[in-house]
Amino acid sequence: MKTLNETGLSPEAVIELLDNFKKQDIEPNKARLLQGIHQGDPTVKQVCQDAHNRFFHHNAFIATYEDGQKQILNELKQMVVEILNGGEEACVNITTGGSESIFCAMHAAREWARVNKPDIRQPYHIVMSRSAHAAFDKAAHYLGMELTRVPWKEDYRADLQAMEEAIQPNTIVVVGSAPMWGFGLVDPIPEIAALAQKHDLWMHSDCCVGGYLLRWMEELGHEIPTWDFRVPGVTSISADLHKHGYAAKPCSTVLYRNRELQNFHYAGVDITNWQSGSYKTEGVAGSRPFASSASAWAIMKHLGHQGWLDLTRRSLEVKNRLIEGLEAIDGFECIRNESLLVCFRSTTLDMGLVFGGVVEKGYFPFGTLDPLYIHMSAEPVSDEIIEMVLSDFRDIAKGVKDGTITGEALAKYM
Ligand SMILES: Cc1ncc(COP(=O)(O)O)c(C=O)c1O
Repeated sequence: MKTLNETGLSPEAVIELLDNFKKQDIEPNKARLLQGIHQGDPTVKQVCQDAHNRFFHHNAFIATYEDGQKQILNELKQMVVEILNGGEEACVNITTGGSESIFCAMHAAREWARVNKPDIRQPYHIVMSRSAHAAFDKAAHYLGMELTRVPWKEDYRADLQAMEEAIQPNTIVVVGSAPMWGFGLVDPIPEIAALAQKHDLWMHSDCCVGGYLLRWMEELGHEIPTWDFRVPGVTSISADLHKHGYAAKPCSTVLYRNRELQNFHYAGVDITNWQSGSYKTEGVAGSRPFASSASAWAIMKHLGHQGWLDLTRRSLEVKNRLIEGLEAIDGFECIRNESLLVCFRSTTLDMGLVFGGVVEKGYFPFGTLDPLYIHMSAEPVSDEIIEMVLSDFRDIAKGVKDGTITGEALAKYM
């Protein structure tokens, strides 16, 4: 049977089919916290959708030839630099996601090393903690670079000594996460950047999760190791607008400390030797949505500094309520971290069965496998959603204890 039908269906019939597919997915209220949806509150979501719809067919690749779109992008980039304390010098490229931002930064680092470290033999080498995101491994593979992940310290943060010991003659980059995906903890970025300065290395601060969050948390009085361009020695930063910028996917940013460093972003990929003249793109993608950038701009304008602080405050309240509710369940404990990630496990129950129970309850559990933790990303959701999640986890714990949860449901994802 062919999948492409011979004659077209009506628009209504097509949408009905899509709705039926959607019904098979995880129920949106159940997806909300466990799948890191990042939609903010209902008004933020509406602003995002409205802005996105205004530009849903527009191509950011040609936005620089459109006066209005160009201005939106310029303002968006300026706000990004302000948020990440880039001062007068920092430069931004908008990409399709954290993985592309990381790829671009590693590419720029490689090109920087070609010029600035002519004595080093390739393949170049990246040093990072075990907790850094898998996007670095992908980037290293695509770019023909080597990479060493060093064990983390007991508290899961980067181990400076282990990182320094892993530096080799061909090392050009050290990485820190602010925060790491696995546990929501911020690495000691100032110390990693100092290590980079000591050995004349490129230092990348991966703020994909924290770029549009940590600033507000700091202003709300949370103690966080500094993560952005205030730290001397931070060369580049990745920061995702489609996470705590609440923008439509795909939308991220990669920042360079100054124009000279940003020039390495374009090294070798500012194409002129074909029939159509200069082909210089923001990142890896050619055509890409303008709509997600428009949504990021609209949300920033809608929230402003105070609105973002307030949204973060409300998200942190949800985080605290989740932690309190989870830790009231027998054997559950949560990591105390510097983010909106609620990372938890049970010290008394079989976590494999807990994962199975989560699937049985109609969720998909994100988290870490070694050690086993489940994740939620806190947002200002309703009391009903918070209570539903906590009540489901109480049931799961009970089911694991009395043997009614077998973990069979998990097999679906294995
Ligand atoms: C710390 C960190 N870095 C990078 C990424 C990759 O981002 P993306 O999925 O947008 O490519 C993620 C994704 O969750 C992340 O948590």
